[in-house]
Amino acid sequence: MTQSNRTLLSAGAMLLSSTLAVFAQQAPAPGKTANPNPFNGNEQAIMDGRDIFNRSCTVCHGKDGTEGDRGPALATPGRRYLRTSDSEIFEAIRNGIPGTQMPRAGLNETDAWKVATYLHGLRGTAIDAPAAGNIEHGEQVFWDKGGCGACHMLHGKGGLVGPDLSNIAALRKVNSIRDALTKAQHSVSTDGGRHDSALAPLSSYLSLRVTTRDGRTITGVLRNQDSFTLQMLGTDNVLHVFNRDELREVVYEPKSLMPTDYDQRLTPDEFQDLLAFLSRQGHVAPAPRPRAEQVIQ
Ligand code: HEC
Ligand code: HEC
Repeated sequence: MTQSNRTLLSAGAMLLSSTLAVFAQQAPAPGKTANPNPFNGNEQAIMDGRDIFNRSCTVCHGKDGTEGDRGPALATPGRRYLRTSDSEIFEAIRNGIPGTQMPRAGLNETDAWKVATYLHGLRGTAIDAPAAGNIEHGEQVFWDKGGCGACHMLHGKGGLVGPDLSNIAALRKVNSIRDALTKAQHSVSTDGGRHDSALAPLSSYLSLRVTTRDGRTITGVLRNQDSFTLQMLGTDNVLHVFNRDELREVVYEPKSLMPTDYDQRLTPDEFQDLLAFLSRQGHVAPAPRPRAEQVIQ
C-alpha cells in the first residue's frame, strides 16, 4: 500500500467516524423515536391535508374529522384514540385497517403524510398547527396597535387584568384564540376540532364597575369578595380593596373586559400576523439533548 493510499484510507476512516458521531448526536433519547413525518408542523401541509381529508374521508369520518358517520370521529373532545402517533395514522391511511371498514385511502405517501399532519394539528393546540403570518410583526401589533399588553402578561411583561398569555398556544387552538379576539361569547375547544364549552367570559375574570361613596368609578375584574369586603383588579392594574360600606354601587358587567372587535380594529394583515405570533406562545417540550452534551455535563 502506498503512502498516499494509506493517508486516503485513514482520512476516510476519520470521515466515517465523524459522520457516526453526528448521527449519534442526532439520535433521539433512548426509548423515544423521532417523528418520521416530513411535514411535522408545516402549515402548508396542514392546509393541503385538510383539503385532501375533506375530499376523501368525510363520507365516513365527517367534516374536519369531528363527526363520524360510518367511521369514528378522529378529533373530538375527550375521545381516546387507538392510533396516536403520526406514523400510526400514516399507516392506517396508507394500508387501511384490516378487518374493519377503514379502506386503503389510495393516497400517495406525500398526501398521506399531509393528512396525518392535519389530523395531528386537529387533535393538538395552536402550537401544533400554528397560524401562518409574519411573527415579528405580530409581536409588534400585540404591544403597539393591539394594546394587548395593557391587560395581558406575556413572559413576565404586561398587565394583570387578563390571563397571562405566555402559554396560550399550548392551551388553546387557533380557532379559540381567533374567537377570543372577535366574538363576545368566545368558546374554548379541547382536543377536538369542535367548540366544547363556552366562556362568557371566563368566570375568573368577571368584570365589574364600582362607584365609591366619594364618587370614584373603577372598572376591572373581581378577585374576591365576602359580606364585608370586595377586592378587584382595576384596569389600572392596581388591586383595590374596599369595605362594602365605602361603595355606593357595584355593577357586574355581562360582558368581558376584553374587546372583541379586533378583526375591525386591525387590518387583515395585522390580525393574521397577531394570530401567527400568539399561536407560537407556548412551552414546547424540550427536544432530547444530544448525547455528547450529556456526557460533558
Ligand atoms: C368507508 C369508510 C371510511 C373511509 C372512507 C375512511 N375511513 Fe378511516 N376509519 C373507518 C373505520 C370504520 C375506522 C375504525 C376502524 C377500527 O375499528 O379500528 C377508521 C379508522 C381510522 C383511523 C384510526 C382511528 C384511531 O383512533 O385509531 C384513522 C386515522 C382514519 N380512519 C383516517 C382516515 C382518513 C385520513 C381517511 C381518508 C383518507 C379515512 N380514514 C377514510 C372508516 C373509513
Ligand atoms: C381591557 C383589557 C384587555 C385588553 C386590552 C385585551 N384583553 Fe384579552 N382578555 C382580557 C380578559 C379580562 C380576558 C379573560 C376573559 C375573557 O376570556 O374574555 C381576556 C382573554 C383573552 C384571551 C383568551 C384567553 C384564554 O385562556 O382563552 C385571549 C387569547 C386574549 N385575551 C388575547 C388578547 C389579545 C391578543 C389582545 C390584544 C389584541 C387582548 N387580549 C386585549 C382583557 C383584555
